[in-house]
Amino acid sequence: MLQKIKETAEFIKAKVNDIPKTAIILGTGLGELVNHIEITDTINYQDIPNFPVSTVEGHSGKLIFGKLGNKRVMAMQGRFHFYEGYNMQQVTFPVRVMKALGITTLFVSNAAGGMNPKFKIGDIMIITDHINLFPEHPLRGKNYNELGPRFPEMSEAYSHRLIKDALKVAEEKGIKVQQGVYVGTQGPTFETPAEYTYFHRIGGDAVGMSTVPEVIVARHSGIEVFAISVITDLGLEGVELEKVSHEEVQLAAAKAQPYMTAIMEGLINEFKA
Ligand code: HPA
Repeated sequence: MLQKIKETAEFIKAKVNDIPKTAIILGTGLGELVNHIEITDTINYQDIPNFPVSTVEGHSGKLIFGKLGNKRVMAMQGRFHFYEGYNMQQVTFPVRVMKALGITTLFVSNAAGGMNPKFKIGDIMIITDHINLFPEHPLRGKNYNELGPRFPEMSEAYSHRLIKDALKVAEEKGIKVQQGVYVGTQGPTFETPAEYTYFHRIGGDAVGMSTVPEVIVARHSGIEVFAISVITDLGLEGVELEKVSHEEVQLAAAKAQPYMTAIMEGLINEFKA
C-alpha cells in the first residue's frame, strides 16, 4: 500500500507543478464549484496509476488543479462509493494520495436525507460530527505507522475553527445554514421509516452514503476536515415518508447548489491555511 501511494503521488507531482495544500471532494451539490476554479491541470482518473477504475462506462472522474479565490486547490470531480463495490481501501485511496502530496486541509460535500424535524429540503447542513455505521472500517487491517496511529482519536473529526469560519461566511452572505451530525451508511437503499427514526434517535440529524470513510482516513493522516451536506429529502419520525428517488435528490441538490458553492468558495478563500 505504501508503495502504491508513493507511486501515485510521484506520478501526480511529475505532472503538476505547485501542488496545493487544500483539497476538495466535489460531492453532490458542489459540482458547479469547478467553474469557479482557474484550472491549470486536469488528470483523468483512468490515467492515474493505482486509482480505482470507474465502474460506470464514460463516467470516470478527474483530478483538477487550479486557483479558487486566493488558494491553490486540488479538486476531485467524482468520488468512489462503497455501494459501488469498491472496498474501503479503494474508496479512501485518493485521500492517502492527498496526504502524500502534502494536502493539509480537506473540504467535502454530499447529499443527505434529513431526520431533524427543524430541517427542510434544500437546507445546507454543516457537519459537526458523524456516526460511522458502515459495515467495514477503512482502517481495518495492518496499520502503517508512517500513515497514522493504530488507534486514532476522533474528538474533533470536523475542525471546530473551520465550522466557525463557515458560519461567519454564511452569515455575511445571508445564507441560512443548519448544523448537525451525519450518519454514514452503506446504501444503496434509502432508509425505511423505521431506519430514519432509529438514526435520529441515536443522535443523527442527516444520513448519507459517503464522506465518513474519507474523513476517517483524512483524520488518521492528520488532515483537517470541513464537510457540508445538502438536505435533499426528509425522513421524519411521525410524518408519513414520501417516496424519494435519485432524480429528486439531484434536483434538490441543484437548487441548493448556488448557496453551497458560495459558502465553500468564501470559506476556502478566507480560511487560514
Ligand atoms: N439516505 C441516504 N442517503 C441519501 C439520502 C437519504 O435519505 N438522501 C441523499 N442521500
